[in-house]
Amino acid sequence: MSTGTVVDRGLEGVVVGSTVLSNVEGQVGRLTYRGYDIDDLAPNATFEEVAHLLLYGHLPNATELKAFKAELAARRSLPAPLITAMQAVPKTAWPMDVIRTVTSGLALFVPVNSHGEHVSDVHSAIELIAKMTTILASWDRIRRGLEPIEPRTDLSHAANFLYMRTGKVPSEIEEDAIDTYLVLLADHSYNASTFSARVTASTRADIYASVTSALATLTGDLHGGAASATYTNLVAIGSPDKAEKFVHDEIAKGNRIMGMGHREYRVRDPRAKHLEAIAQALSKHMGNSKWYPIARELENHSQRILAAEHPDRKIYANVDFYTAPVLADLGIPGDEFTGVFACGRIAGWTAHILEQLADNRLIRPQASYSGPPPGPFVPIGSRK
Ligand code: COA
Repeated sequence: MSTGTVVDRGLEGVVVGSTVLSNVEGQVGRLTYRGYDIDDLAPNATFEEVAHLLLYGHLPNATELKAFKAELAARRSLPAPLITAMQAVPKTAWPMDVIRTVTSGLALFVPVNSHGEHVSDVHSAIELIAKMTTILASWDRIRRGLEPIEPRTDLSHAANFLYMRTGKVPSEIEEDAIDTYLVLLADHSYNASTFSARVTASTRADIYASVTSALATLTGDLHGGAASATYTNLVAIGSPDKAEKFVHDEIAKGNRIMGMGHREYRVRDPRAKHLEAIAQALSKHMGNSKWYPIARELENHSQRILAAEHPDRKIYANVDFYTAPVLADLGIPGDEFTGVFACGRIAGWTAHILEQLADNRLIRPQASYSGPPPGPFVPIGSRK
């Protein structure tokens, strides 16, 4: 590529493909899945309905939903050797490392064809959706020195996830909280992890390899790691009255305020209001836990101070911001938040992978070369 080429670092605003799965309208703050506004889906549809919508193209009728839920439930258990492998892992291992590795390991228990490929279809997608929560809940218990709990087939996806963590069927408010969270996180167009999954799928790698790519990409704190980082901030702040000083100190140190800002949204992330309402309700349910009040103050001060710092850049709360108080009040450790994100986004990842495979073209961009010009090879004896 010639010098002087315009380089789109970060691909901001660059359209690299199309999708029918979800649409992010950043200027107005609207997110739709196959034409359905998340403002309608969050209060009215379960995660199972949304996963069906993404994978099959329509909201299920009652018969379809029953069959979909039955298939999800039947696929929840993990191969026993993967549980044994997790039990052999140091308890200090980072949850996302475990989740990524065990998800990749699922492929070992699925037959391959003569080319070493696994079938990538809607059933393998359901398999991955079903097992992601089991992997996370099992690791949570194993790292705490407890036996993993076998999934139940009579509970919803959300309720079973919380049940596998504690052995207790969750209250309605807890089940609804995690269910709505999973709905809100299910898809978000060509975000970094989904794009990564599509790049991998575009090489005609299978769904297990592509999801493993997505999990690796989700890990960083500019993407799925931001909720954990927000929780770390809430802990450091400690009480609502300390939030303002915290923001000033972070900015003075040149740090970013985690959970604030978005590549696409120039208004508040449309998912934030739903998560804020859940955080507020859960805080009350938990006897006025402190996480929501701290988060509320942190958002107020962050928004005001960042507006003064960056008058041309609209920086508002994103989806990860109120994820932190929600998951904290559900008793989930901060370092597992990215894993819970994955439990929602796996629905979108798998739908995008199948969409990519159905109409594939290898994704292979160019780079502007900025190294030295061509020169002679230097034999080893002549090197300095
Ligand atoms: N805190 C402080 N400053 C921020 C900020 C934040 N959360 N988000 C953006 N900014 C500032 C940047 O420092 C930059 O300032 P500069 O132009 O003086 O260098 C300016 O706003 C533009 O940021 P940029 O990184 O170019 O925007 P982006 O589109 O790449 O950023 C994010 C999007 C998400 C990466 C960014 O907002 C961020 O880092 N947020 C915190 C991490 C987070 O919550 N990630 C989850 C996203 S869902």
